[in-house]
Amino acid sequence: QSAEKEGYDHYMMKEIHEQPETFRRVMTGRLHEDAVTFKEFTLTDEQIQNWQHIDIVACGTAYHSGLVGKSILEETLQLPVNVEVASEFRYRNPRLDAHSLVILISQSGETADTLEALREAKQRGATTIAITNVVGSAISREADQVLYLWAGPEISVASTKAYTAMLIALYLLAFYLGDRAGRFNLADHKDLLEALAKLPDQAESLLTEAKKEEIRQHSQALIDADHLFYIGRGSDWAVAQEGALKIKEISYIHAEAYAAGELKHGTLALVTDGTPFVAIALQEKTFEKTLSNVNEVVARKGRVLCLLKEGHDKISDDLDKRIFIPDCLDMVAPILAAIPLQLLAYYTAEARGCDIDQPRNLAKSVTVE
Ligand code: AGP
Repeated sequence: QSAEKEGYDHYMMKEIHEQPETFRRVMTGRLHEDAVTFKEFTLTDEQIQNWQHIDIVACGTAYHSGLVGKSILEETLQLPVNVEVASEFRYRNPRLDAHSLVILISQSGETADTLEALREAKQRGATTIAITNVVGSAISREADQVLYLWAGPEISVASTKAYTAMLIALYLLAFYLGDRAGRFNLADHKDLLEALAKLPDQAESLLTEAKKEEIRQHSQALIDADHLFYIGRGSDWAVAQEGALKIKEISYIHAEAYAAGELKHGTLALVTDGTPFVAIALQEKTFEKTLSNVNEVVARKGRVLCLLKEGHDKISDDLDKRIFIPDCLDMVAPILAAIPLQLLAYYTAEARGCDIDQPRNLAKSVTVE
């Protein structure tokens, strides 16, 4: 088995390291200099132009990828997008018809609630697109269109490379559909395509021994924590939710993600001397606002580890605990941000002696409803 881990102590670390290659694979043959193509799709322009609303349905980490995908799909298709966990979506009698697109996201392609949501959507006349990693899985067999992640097998219960591949897949899908609908001219947005193309190299730079050691050291401050808060705004909040889930499932520390602007509406009451926070401040639009939330926590003696983009170091000199991701367009920041958060969860769990690849009570694929 250790040979299968290629020298890494755990599958999770191996899979974290596979991300640059995974990024290349999900983009190969799809991302071009001024276009995105999906040869596997059989959608007509008329079908695409006919959609009036979109639902993204998934569970756990896959759901978190949908939270990030929502804003980019809304922008490129100019349609309202609802993101929902599958176990809620399928029981609430969703309003779906021939004008609906339902995107189902599932690494395994076997998650029971996501599969049932897919069946429900099809029965109601919606077009369904599955984003999945497993060829021949139930969801891939039943969806109208399938976008494979080509991330290779993901063994660790905690999803890493499949999550970041899902984000890239959602961006590619948003560009492709928006362009074909005639609502988003990709030729005018070459910078977005270039930003995607740069991701594999940027991901490599987050996986050097020096960078990993830096993150391992930050994890030492978390190992005795009983509670941990992740905060951010917009897509940083979506990133926070995934960061919190990751550390929760493998280190067993109670972690919660909050929209940073919501702190004052209740959660700030929990902040006392030493309460640990991870703040995600990567989006230009909300950077100053998030920093002011960070200052509210610091003023109450909370300890904050900030995730920032390189180049934002001047503004945040007063924050002593910082992790930097490479400078990039705001749009792709969630993809790069995932990597240090995965490593932070990994090293915290390792220091706490947890069973990283096989956390208690969890299965890789949840095939019961
Ligand atoms: C991820 O780290 C989790 N183990 C879990 O939330 C997972 O993402 C969820 O069960 C969905 O699985 P799927 O992508 O295979 O449908």
